[in-house]
Amino acid sequence: MTSIAKAPGKIILFGEHFVVYENRAILGAIDKYATVTSEKTNTDNILISSSLGQSSIKKDEEVSNVEKKFRPFFYIAKQLISKNGFDKGISIKIESEIPIGAGLGSSSACCVAAAASISNLFGNTNEKEILELSIQAEKTIFPNSSGADCTVSVHGGIIEYQKEKGFSKINTKNKFNFLIIDSEQIHATDKVVERVKKFKNENTNVFTELCSEEERLITKALESMENNDLKTIGKCMAQNQIFLEQIGVSNDELLSIIEEIEMITFGAKITGAGDGGCVIALTEEESDLSEYTNTTKYQTYHVSIQKTGMQVFNS
Ligand code: PMV
Repeated sequence: MTSIAKAPGKIILFGEHFVVYENRAILGAIDKYATVTSEKTNTDNILISSSLGQSSIKKDEEVSNVEKKFRPFFYIAKQLISKNGFDKGISIKIESEIPIGAGLGSSSACCVAAAASISNLFGNTNEKEILELSIQAEKTIFPNSSGADCTVSVHGGIIEYQKEKGFSKINTKNKFNFLIIDSEQIHATDKVVERVKKFKNENTNVFTELCSEEERLITKALESMENNDLKTIGKCMAQNQIFLEQIGVSNDELLSIIEEIEMITFGAKITGAGDGGCVIALTEEESDLSEYTNTTKYQTYHVSIQKTGMQVFNS
């Protein structure tokens, strides 16, 4: 049997970084996907192939000895092989249309798709278990992960997320359309999160105040989502961007992208860790941004929020 699973990338509308410290974040699943195809094999190895390369690793190898880029997938396969008492290996093929290191949840979507695909090989498609496994897998390379990215990738739609409380879905009538502008500066989430931790420790009062302001902003943004008030949501995004600048995760290039795109959209901000990666701008569904997209030097994508999260197929 071949098992295929597909999981969406994400944007963070509000609350990145603050979510690492028990605050709320709002995330949306987007129509860009990671797909993982897996099969049981007759070897003793876990074979992983992706656009980043290929590796065949003995299944009793320690996870920590495995090359970082393959580690989460090896972890998932090893866990499921052991849990199901399987005595052979697994092959895993990872394909993704989500840009890497851009704040669009590429690594989480790959972890979710791998956990779903391999679980399904053993007849299990339980969302809760797949989510837990994918968060643990992501933690093999990024121990401080809040788990927010994997959660929205499993469940789809727009979610409110808090580390201890988990998630709740936000019901909105609007489809929500965004233009994504990729600065093409690849960021390392773990390094930026470390830097914010240093900022927090050296500026405790400022950080606590920013957390409270972010909380108030999220309450206002949620009300605006309920009322389908795109103008106010855009303004809230612009305000969130200011908070991100204050904790030091923006830079001149991102700011110049934001200033330009904000003139023709409802509002824009970094999505994800920052320090590079992507800017998201909230747009009207029918708005024509071709003058910008045809002339900018950056790669741009139109995305909308996807109601469906991870999906599993057999072939
Ligand atoms: O840049 P990304 O897609 O890795 O998103 C990171 C989001 C953070 O809030 C900075 C970290 C986290 O685990 O939530």
